[in-house]
Amino acid sequence: MQFEILIPRADLERRARELATAIAPPADGAPPVVVAVLEGARPFADLLCRHLPGRPSWQGIRASSYGDGTVSRGAVAVQGEEQLEVRGRTVLLVEDIVDTGRTVQRIRESLFARGAVAVQVATLLSKPARRVVPVVLEHVGFEVPDAFVIGFGMDAAGCYRDLPYVAIHPTEGGSRSA
Ligand code: PRP
Repeated sequence: MQFEILIPRADLERRARELATAIAPPADGAPPVVVAVLEGARPFADLLCRHLPGRPSWQGIRASSYGDGTVSRGAVAVQGEEQLEVRGRTVLLVEDIVDTGRTVQRIRESLFARGAVAVQVATLLSKPARRVVPVVLEHVGFEVPDAFVIGFGMDAAGCYRDLPYVAIHPTEGGSRSA
């Protein structure tokens, strides 16, 4: 299938370099703990870390939205947080896309609850039209329209994550999450 390319690979590379330059090192000089929200943020986390000072490695956590008659719609379940050692540290939280904002809000709160002293978000994409929670995003690669985006980590029913660019899926709706 041919897709409309929204952000070519060269622009992803350029913007990742710019963001890496803009991400200030923590005040205490220690490298940030870099946490990527899998699965989608994997390629962006790799690219961003390649350009950050010291080429830090990153750790992954998983998040999923759920909601039915027994839980509030839009609740976010997170796996893997317990393995993060963030007490007293600055965390750089890496996302592929911020849509409603619920995932970032949930993870940021939990990182602070675990003792992080600061949390900065670096997201490749932001889709303001879908925002439900007014989250602060310190570093945004690109604002995108209310279309279903795929590629560079983002999927449609498990496909297209490996595309080297960000494209618009023509037959899906705008929302990625519940
Ligand atoms: C996407 C994305 C964020 C979340 C953003 O993940 O990676 O984690 O949705 O949505 P929100 O702002 O509405 O909370 P997705 O659920 O598609 O999972 P995946 O990365 O494993 O594909």
